[in-house]
Amino acid sequence: MNPNKALWEKGDFTRIAASMRDSGEKLVADLGITPGMKILDLGCGDGTTALPAAKLGADVLGVDIASNLVAAGNRRAQDEGLTNLRFQEGDASNLEDLSDDSFDLIVSIFGAMFAPKPFDVAKEMVRVTRPGGRIVMGNWIPNDPTLVAQILKTSAAYSPPPPEGFVSPMTWGVEDDVVERFTAAGVPADKISFARDTYRFTFPSPPADLVAEFRSYYGPTMNAFDAAEANGRTDELQDELVALFNAQNDSPNPGTTSIPATFLRVTVTP
Ligand SMILES: C[S@@+](CC[C@H](N)C(=O)[O-])C[C@H]1O[C@@H](n2cnc3c(N)ncnc32)[C@H](O)[C@@H]1O
Repeated sequence: MNPNKALWEKGDFTRIAASMRDSGEKLVADLGITPGMKILDLGCGDGTTALPAAKLGADVLGVDIASNLVAAGNRRAQDEGLTNLRFQEGDASNLEDLSDDSFDLIVSIFGAMFAPKPFDVAKEMVRVTRPGGRIVMGNWIPNDPTLVAQILKTSAAYSPPPPEGFVSPMTWGVEDDVVERFTAAGVPADKISFARDTYRFTFPSPPADLVAEFRSYYGPTMNAFDAAEANGRTDELQDELVALFNAQNDSPNPGTTSIPATFLRVTVTP
């Protein structure tokens, strides 16, 4: 089994995605989407950004490595009656089913960053973008003090070291690495731009309940708990995550969760 696929089919990312819908919608509203635009959402999950893009009239294909998330996305499209939105399985490192120059816009929000072989990922995204098109990525930033980088850092501290040659997904949050990958794919450096942006995780109950969702349903956190359990350290990991989520929560409503997380927004016009 492909470990990248196994990681994301473990648990149920739709449970985490439910806390990210508002930010997904806001991000999409800002992308200048017009009816009929052809959009590829890569590492789309169950459609946090693909669904609002389709609601704006774009013709959207969501591609994701996890079969359970593809199925969940197709169910959401059907429930919403969106015939201009479909999801299919695929690997961002090798989009062999997709033709050259076929999309006006590639969106990948915390998606393609998790695929192995980042140089292949950049090459594939550029290949399927039509001349004059655009790629927009959202990537978490290594060592950033906000939520997701800290969850991944904490999780790594409890997990065995990655295999030799493993390239951390977080390197997609380093501007120099991003430039190196897209220039290797033939894009001039001045066609690559960066901005800091914020996603917000919202949950209708206290931060500890959102930690429970991550512990039960988010593959990377589930793996960290498995590793912690093997070392008798689950309570320690649990306490560390609850303290982190509580410290980052800035919800004005007691008993609910609203946590901002900074990411690197990358725009490429090949
Ligand atoms: C953090 S989730 C984000 C999902 C979605 N973009 C969202 O905003 O809700 C990461 C997604 O990337 C997908 N993914 C990981 N590796 C992938 C790969 N090699 N090719 C395609 N998708 C991949 C996972 O299955 C998962 O759905």
